[in-house]
Amino acid sequence: MPLPTSSTPATGKTEPGAKVEKASPPIPEGFPAPEAQRMGLLPRYLLARLNAMNDELRAKGVDVIDLAMGNPVDAVQDEVIEEMRAALSQAKNHRYANPRGIPPVRQAFARHMQRYFGVELDAENEVIMTIGSKDALSHLCLAIIGPSDLCAVPTPAYMIHRYAPILAGGHTIGVPMKEENPGPVLLNDIKTLFQTVRPRPKVLILNFPHNPTSKTVEKSFYEEIVSMAKHYRFWVVNDFAYGHTCFDGYRAPSFMEVKGARDVGAETFTMSKPYNMAGWRVGFLYGNPLLVDLLARIKSYFDYGHFHCVQQAVTVALDKGDDFIRKQAKIYQGRRDALLKGLENNGWGPTVKNRAAMFTWQRIPEQGRKVGSLDFCLQLAQEKGVTLSPGGGFGEEGEGFVRIALVESEKRLTEAADRIGAFLRTL
Ligand SMILES: Cc1ncc(COP(=O)(O)O)c(C=O)c1O
Repeated sequence: MPLPTSSTPATGKTEPGAKVEKASPPIPEGFPAPEAQRMGLLPRYLLARLNAMNDELRAKGVDVIDLAMGNPVDAVQDEVIEEMRAALSQAKNHRYANPRGIPPVRQAFARHMQRYFGVELDAENEVIMTIGSKDALSHLCLAIIGPSDLCAVPTPAYMIHRYAPILAGGHTIGVPMKEENPGPVLLNDIKTLFQTVRPRPKVLILNFPHNPTSKTVEKSFYEEIVSMAKHYRFWVVNDFAYGHTCFDGYRAPSFMEVKGARDVGAETFTMSKPYNMAGWRVGFLYGNPLLVDLLARIKSYFDYGHFHCVQQAVTVALDKGDDFIRKQAKIYQGRRDALLKGLENNGWGPTVKNRAAMFTWQRIPEQGRKVGSLDFCLQLAQEKGVTLSPGGGFGEEGEGFVRIALVESEKRLTEAADRIGAFLRTL
């Protein structure tokens, strides 16, 4: 199997969005270019470019409906805010806190995993609090991936899954997802990859429910992965950001539910999505104690962990937020229904009803597909003020698709669908 180059831009060959990109400031005369070589491996973060375009449109007075970024818009639960307020008034809480997470927050997280997924975690050795799951994934890669190490990732993929190993000096190799929901085909492709690629990949990064495609798996999928990992001897990291955002009775399994999972890997969790706490930057890595320890060791060079008050408030969210996160998932389900109905009523054609995640992944109708997903999104934004994420931004396998975040009310999403329909009729 040929090795992909690690520097392939995630946005594909054509970069028409370059017109919304800010030029880099000039290098002072005689100075060496300050940019490290690794920066050349990173495409500009697409969301930053879309945000810049939204700002431009808003400055012109356009009422932008921004469905590009999975940035929650709903309120945080009251008890968490109250706990934060109370914690702020205590002087002792303003010192450096426990960088791995104070024991109560790690214990609350372990209780949460036990309640929801039946997973028993040793809060002392198998759980670490992180500055969001991006911190967990990127710093874990820095601790476990080095030059010539290879990391396998199903594609299309969320940027950090593809680029954290590259930032760490290694390479990623994509395994294209071909099924509506991963099962025997993806498992077989992963197995072939570990059988044939040399050097054999050291790590497999998974992410189900998946960003950007919303694809989901059953527990049996992870059982196969664990047995493969033991056979071919590789590590597994599952990003479980959307584990609580499930619809229509579907329950996403945690990778850690599987017997033997903690021998071969770990999982990341975030407070950003289920608890609407994206700005708080809180996540967890849990599972294999060696991986947890490696992350703790590398993080001790970069940060001192979270503000104590945040840790205290997150403890409350984890212990008292069960109803809250169930209600939040229902809100996303209602929004998914409103959006998909609106798209189908507006000539989009049949849509795929995803059963998890806070966005939906849809194939662009034929008349919009020919310009490429990035230009489709740019034109739609410029002409109708609706911003979506182009599928090509998640790798070339995402070309022809868009990711639509469910971050507006049902009414606004219906309006977005009407505007998209009006745009489609002009093509
Ligand atoms: C799959 C996935 N993982 C991680 C993140 C980042 O989460 P956090 O806010 O915990 O860094 C996101 C954000 O969109 C995501 O979609």
